[in-house]
Amino acid sequence: MNDKERVAKYATQKVKNGMVVGLGTGSTANYFIEALAYRIKHESLDVTTVASSLVSMLKAQSLNIPIKAIEHIESLDLYVDGADEVAPDNTLLKGQGADLVREKLLARSSKQFIVLVDSSKRVGRIGEKFSIPIEVMPFAWQIVKLQLEQAGGKGELRLAEKGGLAVSSAGNLIIDMSFDTSLNSHRLNVILNGLPGVVEHGIFQDLADTVLLVENDEIKELIIGSKSLELP
Ligand code: A5P
Repeated sequence: MNDKERVAKYATQKVKNGMVVGLGTGSTANYFIEALAYRIKHESLDVTTVASSLVSMLKAQSLNIPIKAIEHIESLDLYVDGADEVAPDNTLLKGQGADLVREKLLARSSKQFIVLVDSSKRVGRIGEKFSIPIEVMPFAWQIVKLQLEQAGGKGELRLAEKGGLAVSSAGNLIIDMSFDTSLNSHRLNVILNGLPGVVEHGIFQDLADTVLLVENDEIKELIIGSKSLELP
C-alpha cells in the first residue's frame, strides 16, 4: 500500500452513517473513493456523496456509491480531498484538475474539510512548486492575464493533454500563473478574489479543518480548527 492509499483509507474512518460526504479529485481522492466504496459495501455504511468533478462522479458511480448532483445539496458534513501544496499556515494550493469552482464550493460548505497529503506537498510558500491555477471566463482571459502580469505574474493558458485549450467543467479557461516571492498568497488571494472575469482560483485560504499528513508510513493529524461558515 502506498502513502496516498494509506492516508485515504485512514480518512474513511472519519465517515459516519448518515453523512453527506464530498468526494475530491485526483489520485489521493481516488483511493478515498475506493476505500469508501469498500466500507459502504462491506460495513453497510449509509452515506450520500457529492463529487467535486465529473471524473470523481463517474468513479463513484462505477463503484455504486450513492451520489447526488451538487445542485441538490445545501451543505456537507465532510469533504475529503488532496492538495498540490500545503503552506506552513495551512493555506492550500489546489486545482490541477481544473474544477476549481466545485472544489472550493465543497470546501466552503462542508462542516469539516479534511486534506490528504504526503510530505512532498509541504512547501515553504504557496506557489513554490506549482503555478497558481486561475479559472477565467473565456472572454476575459486577455484582460485578466495582462492585469496579473502587471502585478508581476508570468503564465499562460493551460493546454489540454489531447491538444487545444483546457476547459473547466463550467466551460471556462485556466491560466496557470507564477508570481515572485514579493506577492504572498494572502495578498494574492485578495487580488484574485476581487478581479472581474476571474471565476475561481487555486488558493484555498482558511478552508482546511484538518490536514492528514502521511510521512514515513506514519499519519499525522494536524487539526487546524473549525472554519467559520459566516460570510467574510
Ligand atoms: C484537483 O484539482 C487537485 O486539487 C488535487 O486535489 C490535487 O492535484 C492533488 O492530486 P493528487 O492527489 O493526485 O496528488
